Amino acid sequence: MKIFLDTADLNEIRKAVSWGIIDGVTTNPTLFSKQKGFSFEDLAREILNTVDGPVSLEVVSDLAEDMVKEARNLNKLGDNVVVKIPFGKEGLKAVRALSSEGIKTNVTLVFSPSQALLAAKAGATYVSIFLGRLDDISNEAFKVLADSVEIFRNYDFRTEIIAASIRHPMHVVQAALIGTDIATVPFAVLEKMFKHPLTDVGIERFKKDWEQFLQSAKKD
Ligand code: E4P
Repeated sequence: MKIFLDTADLNEIRKAVSWGIIDGVTTNPTLFSKQKGFSFEDLAREILNTVDGPVSLEVVSDLAEDMVKEARNLNKLGDNVVVKIPFGKEGLKAVRALSSEGIKTNVTLVFSPSQALLAAKAGATYVSIFLGRLDDISNEAFKVLADSVEIFRNYDFRTEIIAASIRHPMHVVQAALIGTDIATVPFAVLEKMFKHPLTDVGIERFKKDWEQFLQSAKKD
């Protein structure tokens, strides 16, 4: 399973990249709005240079024609750009045009297997299914994800599924259990994935026991 980081925060990206477990990054306009003191292009370029893998940058136009223009410009920012396109009729029109130009796309704001199927039909490189936002309205997020994974397998779609809107480590584990290609994870959730109290207790105990061993070795 690939793990993407869901952030536009360079410090978070640099830290996670240094841990050696990040395969890509996803951003959106909300995540960019949290970063101060950068122009969009400067920050996007810096992220693209920091990550050895796909980086999703989102378009904000409403019409397919405008999305395609925006996407072409975004695509010039680096070799690892993936253009994020909101789901919809105009969005899928843009995805079809961009995929025929070889520009990679990530169809975002997908909340049902039927939407996921249409995005794959349009030639999307990735489709992002939002788990947390489905949970928020008491929908069965994992049924949506599992059904989409099964549909893509049935027809060998090359489109990869990203489990997005991840709120806690169990979202990632459940996505992995059903064979989702990718989970895009906020930094805080990634940090939680490292944690287990028994690991901390175990390390403390090994350190203490080692100290004891060294002390007794000195005496002998
Ligand atoms: C996906 O690519 C989105 O950036 C993200 O996962 C949305 O998450 P949210 O529902 O926490 O805003």
